[in-house]
Amino acid sequence: MNDKEYRILPLHKRPDLVPDCCTLLNSEWPRSETARLKFLNVSCDEFPTCLVLVDEEDRVLGHCKVSLIPRLRHSCFVQSVIIDYKRRSQGLGSRLLRGTEEYVARKGIKTVYLITKGQEVFYLKNGYRTCDPFKASGINDVVYSSAAFAKAKLREKSTQCCGPPPPPMPNFQMPKFYDLGVTTQRTHMVKKLSQ
Ligand SMILES: CC(C)(COP(=O)(O)OP(=O)(O)OC[C@H]1O[C@@H](n2cnc3c(N)ncnc32)[C@H](O)[C@@H]1OP(=O)(O)O)[C@@H](O)C(=O)NCCC(=O)NCCS
Repeated sequence: MNDKEYRILPLHKRPDLVPDCCTLLNSEWPRSETARLKFLNVSCDEFPTCLVLVDEEDRVLGHCKVSLIPRLRHSCFVQSVIIDYKRRSQGLGSRLLRGTEEYVARKGIKTVYLITKGQEVFYLKNGYRTCDPFKASGINDVVYSSAAFAKAKLREKSTQCCGPPPPPMPNFQMPKFYDLGVTTQRTHMVKKLSQ
């Protein structure tokens, strides 16, 4: 792989790439366009930052989002790492991680954390090691860049609660995850960046 063919760009510097980035993320994790735009449009220089991997023709081939972890100094949390499925197993995922690590290191980050379910080997090959579960502040391991923002989100979430869940459908049996070959175990991983 010729490294020079690919670049890592902060998405907020290239808003024209947002629609392609939405399509890429939704190809793996379908969400409404509104939810996706909300997820991507928070990108900024001070974190959270969405980083995209593009080729020479500015085609969006990969994405990841980096957020700060409150109370863990010089640390960040990486999520939504994805490479276009047609371009996987060509070293681009590793290129994206390396570019992300270089980007955050320039901003003073020393340690990168992430959580995965099924891609442990990919991260191990990229220098990450498993670690004890860490508390990513916020809801469902979404990490917010400030405690005030996290509190506001929690308040918003609690006001959205609308009564008990509906009763189960008759004769409906929840499939067991192991029947589907899905691992329910999430692995917490960490990498210390070299200075
Ligand atoms: C995970 C993902 C980003 C990897 O991207 P990629 O471009 O295919 O990865 P690379 O080609 O850089 O692979 C680097 C190494 O990891 C290995 N690897 C990659 N994915 C792997 C997997 N699922 N299982 C085992 N090994 C894997 C590769 O074989 C390669 O090893 P090698 O250097 O010995 O050849 C990509 O598969 C993807 O987008 N998956 C769907 C989204 C997803 O699950 N993201 C992770 C969320 S935590």
